Amino acid sequence: MDDQIKNIKTLEELQSLYTSVFGKNGTMTARLRDMKNLDNDARAALNAENVLLRELFKTRQAEIENAILMDNLAKQKLDVSLNPVPENRGTLHPLTQSLSEISAILESFGYTRWTGPELEDDWHNFTALNTPAHHPARDMQDTFFLENGNVLRTQTSAIQIRAMESDGVPIKMFGIGSTYRKEMDATHSPMFGQIEGLYVDKGVTMSDLIADVRMFLSRFFEMDDVELRIRPSYFPFTDPSIEIDMKWHGGKWLEVMGAGMVHPNVLRNCGINPDQYQGFAFGFGWDRLAMLKYGLDDIREFYNGDVRWLKNAGF
Ligand code: PHE
Repeated sequence: MDDQIKNIKTLEELQSLYTSVFGKNGTMTARLRDMKNLDNDARAALNAENVLLRELFKTRQAEIENAILMDNLAKQKLDVSLNPVPENRGTLHPLTQSLSEISAILESFGYTRWTGPELEDDWHNFTALNTPAHHPARDMQDTFFLENGNVLRTQTSAIQIRAMESDGVPIKMFGIGSTYRKEMDATHSPMFGQIEGLYVDKGVTMSDLIADVRMFLSRFFEMDDVELRIRPSYFPFTDPSIEIDMKWHGGKWLEVMGAGMVHPNVLRNCGINPDQYQGFAFGFGWDRLAMLKYGLDDIREFYNGDVRWLKNAGF
């Protein structure tokens, strides 16, 4: 009987054998019924046999159930090596990403972020920036004029005027936003993003300017140190004015920003005494910096909104 139970493979067979032993007409049932005719020893032996047999059935049942379970698990196993359905994931636009990186770096240097209107009046875009009507420097920027004499902001320098007018000095801020000029080629877009840094306090010098710019560029381009080249330049709102170049991979010099010490007239126009306060300002196209960082040749690619291009460029 023991071997018979152990050789059974299915629960159904086990059940029918069990019934033939312990069922109403089962062999064991019959023997138990006649137990009263047995002597004590035989009774004890029968009881023991009864208990053992039930145990054997139970054990075999558990074994068969376990085998069925293992079998099902093997059949239902997930094949995780199968290729998943392709997934189209959205990401932030590279310009948005670099914008937040730039902001985070400048904020960590203590600059406060400002924005301003894209439609500017003549005062904030030109006159307060020491560029009065008929000043030849107005031609440096091909301006979009509105009929009422306002302009599409040509430079974020307008924001530094608004910041000084509103908060006075000392001030450490950066202005950020879109600017507009009538120009369009591979490195110029009629709308582009500018960032402008301004720090005015007592005793601010040109070396403070260069230190901040150097730290900023090395953080943004993730370079241990950056080599800068300072060239004299001209902007009506800074004096002296400089152009800052940066040594790029392969030893090539790249022009990265305009900068200078804030012109005393600009401070005066904002009600600040230039005999007490000095400051520096720097300005650059943030899409141009992003273009360098990501190794792009054509700035207009950023604005086409072509998802295939964004994907191929690795964004
Ligand atoms: N506004 C200048 C430009 O658009 C850049 C600049 C900003 C230069 C601040 C000097 C100081 O070209």
